[in-house]
Amino acid sequence: PGDEEEKLSDECKELLLTLPKERGWVTLHLYQFQGFWYQPAEIQSIMAFQKHFQASDSDTVLASVPKTGTTWLKALTFAIVNRHRFPINKNHPLLTSNPHDLVPFLLELTNLSCKFPDEPRLFSTHIPFPSLGTIKESNCKIVYICRNPFDTFVSAWNFFNRGRPKSLPPLSLDEAFDMYCKGIILSGPFWDHMLGYWKESLKKPHNVFFLKYEDLKEDGAFHLKRLAKFVEYPFTMEEERNGVIEGIAKLCSFETLKNLEVNKTGTFCQHFERASLFRKAEVGDWVNYLNPEMVERLSKVIEERLGGSGLSF
Ligand code: A3P
Repeated sequence: PGDEEEKLSDECKELLLTLPKERGWVTLHLYQFQGFWYQPAEIQSIMAFQKHFQASDSDTVLASVPKTGTTWLKALTFAIVNRHRFPINKNHPLLTSNPHDLVPFLLELTNLSCKFPDEPRLFSTHIPFPSLGTIKESNCKIVYICRNPFDTFVSAWNFFNRGRPKSLPPLSLDEAFDMYCKGIILSGPFWDHMLGYWKESLKKPHNVFFLKYEDLKEDGAFHLKRLAKFVEYPFTMEEERNGVIEGIAKLCSFETLKNLEVNKTGTFCQHFERASLFRKAEVGDWVNYLNPEMVERLSKVIEERLGGSGLSF
C-alpha cells in the first residue's frame, strides 16, 4: 500500500481490503466506496462525516466534480452571501485569501474537527449526492456546478499530474483518458455524480440548483442573479442599478483571481499549489489535447450514460 494508507485507522484499512481498487491519479490507488472512486484518506473522512455531521436547514453546500469550476463557484457564492458584511471594494477578503480558504470543504472540517463557521454556514464538497448523509434529508440549499466532460478531463489531467508526487511515474494522457472513460477518477464516475444531483434538482428545485460552467461563462450576470435568488440573497433593483452584479463578476473573474499575489503562491488542500487552480479557464480547450478517436469514445460514453436524462453538453 501507499504511504498514505499507513496512517489510516484499522477500521478503514480493513475496509480497503474489501473494496475494488484501481491505479490512482494522485495517490498510488483509488478505491471504490459506495459506488464512487476515492483516495484512501477520503474514505476515512467520508465515514467520519456520515457518522458525525449534522446538517442544518440554513446550510448552503456547493457541490461539484473536481475541476468543473469549484473555485469560481466558491468565490461567487462567498461574495454574494457576504456582500453586506464585505462590500465589493478593494478591501474584499477575496483579494487577500484564496476562495478555498474562505469556503472550506466539508471533509476538511470533519477531518480537522474544526469549529464550523458561523451560521448560516457555507461549505463545499465533491461527495456525490447519495453519500451526503444528513444533508440529503435536510432542507439545506445545494448549488451544483458541472462542466462539459471533455474540458473537465483536460483540466483534471493537467491539475493532477502537477500535484502527483515525484515518487509516482507521470500519468500519460492516454492512460488517464482510459481511466476517465471507465469512470475511474476522484469522485467519479462523473456521469453518476452529475446524475445524482441532476435528478435531485428536478425533484426538489428549491433545494438543488444546477449550474453549468459554460453557461456561467456565457452569461455571468444572468446566472449570478439566479444564484443569488436561490441562496436567498437576491439582488435589489438598486444593487442592479449600481452595478453590484458586474462588480461581483469582475472580482471573481479568472483574470482577477489568477493575478492576485495570494493565488500565485502557497498551497491548498494540503499539497496542491494554489497557482494550479488557475490554468486557462477556456471552453473547448480539449481540442488541443484529444484526438478524433478519443472524442468519439468519450462522446459515446456521454451519450450512453447521460442520454435521455435531459442533461447534455
Ligand atoms: P482549466 O484547467 O480548464 O483552466 P476547480 O475550481 O473545480 O478545480 O476547476 C478548475 C478549473 O476552473 C480550471 O479550468 C480553472 O482554470 C478554472 N477556473 C478557476 N478559477 C476560475 C474563475 N474565476 N473563472 C472561470 N474559471 C476558473
